[in-house]
This record gives sequence, C-alpha cells and structure tokens, in this order.
Amino acid sequence: MLSKDSKIYIAGHNGMVGSACWRALSDAGYTNLIGKSSKELDLRNQSNVKDFLADEKPYAIIDAAAKVGGILANDTYPYEFLMDNMLIQNNLIKSAHELDIKKFIFLGSSCIYPKLAPQPLKEEHLLTGALEPTNEWYAIAKISGVKLIEALRKQYNRDYVSLMPTNLYGPGDNFDLNTSHVLPAMIRKFHEAKENNKSDVVLWGTGNPMREFLHVDDLAQAVKLFLENHADDFLYNIGTGKDIAIKDLANSIQAVVGHKGSILWDSTKPDGTPRKLLDVGKILKMSWEPIISLNDGISSVYK
Ligand SMILES: NC(=O)c1ccc[n+]([C@@H]2O[C@H](COP(=O)([O-])OP(=O)(O)OC[C@H]3O[C@@H](n4cnc5c(N)ncnc54)[C@H](OP(=O)(O)O)[C@@H]3O)[C@@H](O)[C@H]2O)c1
Repeated sequence: MLSKDSKIYIAGHNGMVGSACWRALSDAGYTNLIGKSSKELDLRNQSNVKDFLADEKPYAIIDAAAKVGGILANDTYPYEFLMDNMLIQNNLIKSAHELDIKKFIFLGSSCIYPKLAPQPLKEEHLLTGALEPTNEWYAIAKISGVKLIEALRKQYNRDYVSLMPTNLYGPGDNFDLNTSHVLPAMIRKFHEAKENNKSDVVLWGTGNPMREFLHVDDLAQAVKLFLENHADDFLYNIGTGKDIAIKDLANSIQAVVGHKGSILWDSTKPDGTPRKLLDVGKILKMSWEPIISLNDGISSVYK
C-alpha cells in the first residue's frame, strides 16, 4: 500500500519533468523521495541499475530520465537517441519487474504517434502509420517502452503505465537557442530584444502552425494521480486538449515580456507539421485537469 513515507524513486529528478514530479510529491507530503544524477548512476548500465534498485527497493519508479533533444540533435546522434533511451528504460523496467516493484510510470512524448495520424491524436493511433522521420530514433525507443509496459500489464498484471505528454514548459526549461523548444526560445528572444533595445524580433516560419502547451506542474499532478490510483489502461495522453497558433503564442509572450517592437516571420524557415494536438478525453475522465493557464504559466516562467 502506498503511504506518504513509501519510497519513490524519480529517475531524471534533475530534469524539467523529474524536478516537477519531485516538487509535486514533496508538496503533497511524500517524505521518502530518492533520486540520482546521471553522474552518480548511469542508467545505461544494467548491473548498476539492478544493484541500486535491489538495495533501495522503492515502492514506485517514475521514469523521467531520457536523452532528449530537438531535430538537430536527433539527426546528429540517431544511434544515441535510439540506444541510450532503450537502455535507460529497459534497465529500469526490467529491474522493476524482476524486483516486484509495485508501480512504474513511464514518460514518453507525443512524437510516438504517426506523422499523418488524424488530429486530435488518440492513444489508439499508436502504430497505425509511419513516424515523423526527423525524430523516429527517439520515437521508436519510446514506443518500445510503451509496448514493454503494455506487455507487463497483459502478461503479469502489473500496475505499470505510460504517460504521453504534449509540449511541456515550466521551471527548469532549456533556454539554449540551439537546442530549445519554441516557447522558451521565444521568451529568450523577446527578453534579449527588450534588454538590448532592439525593436524587431525575427521568428522562424509563418507563425501559422497550431501547437498545444502544458505546464510541467500540471503534468506532475497527472503523475501523482497515477501514483495514487490504479491505471485501467497502459497508455494515456496528457495535455490541455487546446492548441494555439504560434503567432498568438508569440503575441502573448511579447506582452508578458514587455517587448514593444515588431515581430518578423522568416517564412524561408520550416513550419513543421501544421497541427499537433492530443486527444485528452481518456485522462479527463479521471480526476485530473490542467489548471495553469498558458498566460499565467508564461508569466511565472518569465519571472
Ligand atoms: N520537455 C518536454 O517538452 C517534454 C514533452 C513531452 C515529454 N517529455 C518527456 O519527459 C521526459 C523527461 O524530459 P525532460 O524535458 O525533463 O528532460 P531533461 O530536462 O533533459 O531531463 C532528463 C533527465 O534525464 C537524466 N538522464 C539522461 N540520461 C541519463 C543517464 N544515462 N543516466 C541517468 N540519468 C540520465 C538527466 O539526468 P542528469 O541531469 O543528472 O544528467 C536529466 O535530469 C522524457 O521522457 C521526455 O520525452 C518531455
């Protein structure tokens, strides 16, 4: 039985998602959270992972550890994106099962769904078509994790689950313009333009694509929900179910940052897929809904 002093191991607890889970559980009164940095425990090493988990014997594992990155990183390091991510999740999932760890929450991402799947993306669209080629290395690793969780549920009746969040943002985000996602990249660009008294900010693409954004603290509440309750299924999308045009996102961020100049759209740069929205009907039937509005979330991240 889960209690507030049950040991909970958050793999990747220094990352954006892992640290949000740590905050949420600690705020909820969980007193026995454990974490290891990649320097202390390289999750690609099977025997070290097994020894660590056999010693600690946590009640639950939240797997927020992964090698993550954008198109450029995926394209440059396809082998590491596929191999490292499979090793990290395989070592954790295999040891969890062998050591009879009661709960496992596996975090993936919406890139697991086929490139041309109908929108909004439903859980049942998994493996119904070809993936977006730019991140298929990462996606295939994550799909294999989802299938391992499904197999353990089916064959051994484990209460393990995979959660697929939409685009996340929040404290601990990556603001490096070479590797960051669109929302933190815009915050940085508008902030630097304001600080340097530049009137124009140039953004990539046409601004027309539609994207969905979830504050990482809302995701952490969904993780807590699955920690505390039985999962009836193996896969749940986690998002807001609402999308926004990149142009409107830029206007909101500009207003929050207080930049006064114009926004120039460089349409020679790629837009990416026109729309990417998750169907979140399944998780909304449980007692969870996102509570942080995009505007409030952007304001707090900017502060
Ligand atoms: N960010 C998003 O928009 C987003 C959206 C959807 C899903 N997700 C999913 O959420 C998960 C976490 O993402 P994130 O944004 O929190 O990434 P992040 O900030 O880069 O954190 C990843 C964590 O993984 C750990 N890690 C990586 N390789 C490791 C290794 N070999 N051994 C041990 N630890 C290792 C890192 O630990 P150290 O810091 O100690 O090196 C790091 O703290 C991923 O599965 C990702 O797919 C993220």
